[in-house]
Amino acid sequence: MLEIKEIKINYENNPMGLWGNPQFSWVMKSHERNVKQTAYHLQIATDDEFTTLAFDSGKVEDEQSAHIVASGFQMKEATKYFVRVKVSTTAGDSDWKEAFFVTALAGPQSWLGKFVTAETIADKDNAKGTYVRSTFSVNKKVKEAYAFTTGLGIYEFYLNGEKVGEDLLTPGWTAYHKHLLYQTYDITEFLVEGQNGVGASLGAGWFKGTMGFIPRRNIYGDCTAFLGQLLIRYQDGTEEIIATDESWLGHDSPVEFAEIYDGEIYNANKEVPDWSKGPMPAGDWKPVEVVSYDKEVLQPQSNCRVKAIDTMPARKVFVTPEGDTVIDFGQNMSALIEATATGKPGDVIEIWCFEELDKDGNVYLDNLRGAKQAMKYTFAEAKTATYMPKFTFMGFRYAKVVSWPGTPKAEDFIAYAIHSYMEPTGTFECSNPDLNQLQSNILWSMKGNFVDIPTDCPQRNERLGWTGDAQIFIRTSAYLMNVYTFFDKWLTDVAKEQQPNGAVSQVVPDIITGYAGDNWLMSQGTFGATAWADVAVIAPWTLYLTYGDKAILAKQYESMKGWIDFMVDYSEDYIWSFGLQCGDWVALDAEEGSYFGATPEDLLCTAYFAYSTGLFVKSLQALGKEEEAKEYQELYQNVVDKFKGTFFDENGDMTAQTQTSYIVALYFGLVPEGLEEQTIEGLKRLLAKEDGHLVTGFIGTPYFCHALSQNGALKEAYELLLKDDFPSWLYQVKRGATTIWEHWDGIKPDGSMWSADMNSFNHYAYGAVGEWLYRAVAGLEIDENKPGYLHSIIYPRIGGDLEYVEAAYQSIYGEVGIRWEVAEDTVKLRITIPVNTTATVKLDTEQIIEADGLDFVEKNGQMVAEAGSGVYRVVMKR
Ligand code: BGC
Repeated sequence: MLEIKEIKINYENNPMGLWGNPQFSWVMKSHERNVKQTAYHLQIATDDEFTTLAFDSGKVEDEQSAHIVASGFQMKEATKYFVRVKVSTTAGDSDWKEAFFVTALAGPQSWLGKFVTAETIADKDNAKGTYVRSTFSVNKKVKEAYAFTTGLGIYEFYLNGEKVGEDLLTPGWTAYHKHLLYQTYDITEFLVEGQNGVGASLGAGWFKGTMGFIPRRNIYGDCTAFLGQLLIRYQDGTEEIIATDESWLGHDSPVEFAEIYDGEIYNANKEVPDWSKGPMPAGDWKPVEVVSYDKEVLQPQSNCRVKAIDTMPARKVFVTPEGDTVIDFGQNMSALIEATATGKPGDVIEIWCFEELDKDGNVYLDNLRGAKQAMKYTFAEAKTATYMPKFTFMGFRYAKVVSWPGTPKAEDFIAYAIHSYMEPTGTFECSNPDLNQLQSNILWSMKGNFVDIPTDCPQRNERLGWTGDAQIFIRTSAYLMNVYTFFDKWLTDVAKEQQPNGAVSQVVPDIITGYAGDNWLMSQGTFGATAWADVAVIAPWTLYLTYGDKAILAKQYESMKGWIDFMVDYSEDYIWSFGLQCGDWVALDAEEGSYFGATPEDLLCTAYFAYSTGLFVKSLQALGKEEEAKEYQELYQNVVDKFKGTFFDENGDMTAQTQTSYIVALYFGLVPEGLEEQTIEGLKRLLAKEDGHLVTGFIGTPYFCHALSQNGALKEAYELLLKDDFPSWLYQVKRGATTIWEHWDGIKPDGSMWSADMNSFNHYAYGAVGEWLYRAVAGLEIDENKPGYLHSIIYPRIGGDLEYVEAAYQSIYGEVGIRWEVAEDTVKLRITIPVNTTATVKLDTEQIIEADGLDFVEKNGQMVAEAGSGVYRVVMKR
């Protein structure tokens, strides 16, 4: 029995809004072992009976089940395509498996609509909400209908009184003037015969509202606007297009104020009943103005859109010692609260969201800095109202009830955790509950900060796409969820925001370059920081590793090269420096009150120069650019030699005695030959000096456990991971953290807080240890030579007094999984390898007790077996 479990199209299920020839892949399931695909058959049709074929591959004798491109397939715009695949394998043939996708518009020439606004220049400095709308009639039987919509600001699209789709915060945040996404919707079911009403509700969003830690508004423009185009295909074969133009009308909405940081103010007295229904509703509607905007920058977005993903009912409502009424949702997150209250005219619901209680159990707002994170609703009539803001989001676990008609109860509040829609791919569980909580905290920090772009934090007046944070965390995130589309989109902006000299911005979208003002930190430079800018190379490489897809390397090639060449241009004898370097950000070995860790800048810059150049060489090889690969290989060797010759002294010690120096040297392969032993001993010594604790920042922390476990210090790696006193990952867990903190000492052992000027409790950077849990503890590792888990390396590192670990990753081929369980003097393992892939199983043992058909041989003190797909139960001696 062989079954196709699912078909992915551009890594998504049934994507809405594609343009360009997509990639297909499929996951197969079989109870047999060593199953390989021998042939596939892919069809694309315009009907679900597959009578009108747009593409037919015929039977293709090929093992490949991912990255399949239907060559020769010409897609038509605004069309639903049905896809089916069947395969032949060594375990028999499958049935057809079906999926679909809907295409977007073919390009700028297809846009007939104009951006329209209900605002005037007098609204430049406000953040009120507006409506734009129109009416059209449908007098024939509709076959199908699609809408293509976007906005300047945040928009919600409505038809006949109903919101279309479940997306939030559309069109998301991109470098708007270079890259603006539009969304595609199937609106067939929304249309009615006769008069139809169509409209959009708009808010300031990232486009026009105040953004940045150096507050600035109207960054991208002075007014919000909506662009929409509806295509209706009738059963009689005719078509009609309804598009935004001068005939549309505008009105203020009940949203008196809405911005990303500060929240939303909604006044029900200003509601316009039936505003998006047909025919024309009452109200003081005025003609819209047309806003000119370059349509060349429009690109379709498929399914990776922000949505309400988790429903989080309030756990309790309590009163603090200072007398505030506070709602506890039990989980720090990015979310929107839905509040239900019964009030009379003039009654007000007002709620302020925040992350932590202070040491006395009172409301702590200081770390939000300028962000208000408030929601306010004014009743117009006596009724039970349910209100959830739409043009903002908040980062919080708690909320203070500032105003409420009556007495609030927990059941009056539900929070909806929001993030970009990505399929969960990783699960990890073990016998240590604190480690499980850490894993959950990592996942929740990912959710909280994958709100359209990868942000540093979701609560204070920042929430920016800090490139270093994303670089550090990408590998962990790629275990937890299917991040391909998410990062593909953001990397487009990384490239578009790159400086002419190749330097990569510290934040993407870049709203700080040129506007640093007198901010002492940023005035030093806003691009070209080591480890931050390296995202341009590390992120595409990580996507290539995880999904085996060369397309991302090809797409980002110029951007990757630009960054490497920048380092070349700004280096002298392979040591480079430029502007502001963030260094080993917020490391504990920083001087009191400083953000900058003790590891010297030149050492870190050279280390990353080597690391990124090495990855670029591998990327060039993957792309078949052999000549260029040779050229950069020479550069790589020179940088590595320079590092070895400069940052090790004549005694073989590192010139900088910091944990991070040793970590980067070990993990990036920069240790001079013969000094391997001395270098790992050096790191162990620096660790022992801190009584086994880390004092590392953003650069050293992610690789700390790897640097140890890859160099014979597995015991120390586990000890480090499992430390639970300050400073450590589990210290946060013991202090009740539900997400990852920005600082090891966010809350100090005495209960006091790190300075409120920068103290986020939802910052994923230190959660990068999640990668070690999957790659080392569970041992689910990628083979660089056959990426995308086409060949896996299963090498679990048993230790840490863990009794069992169970982890799985849903790869593009299916589940790669492991369970290991320690008995007295044996370890039992269950290993899962997906159909059409292979794996090398490596175990640290002298003896395999049960091999379950695998052929283990002794190699360098390990037992190693090559395995085909299937589930294997192995028992080894401890
Ligand atoms: C952010 C960090 C970021 C850093 C770099 C901070 O304000 O929150 O996560 O990487 O600045 O300067």
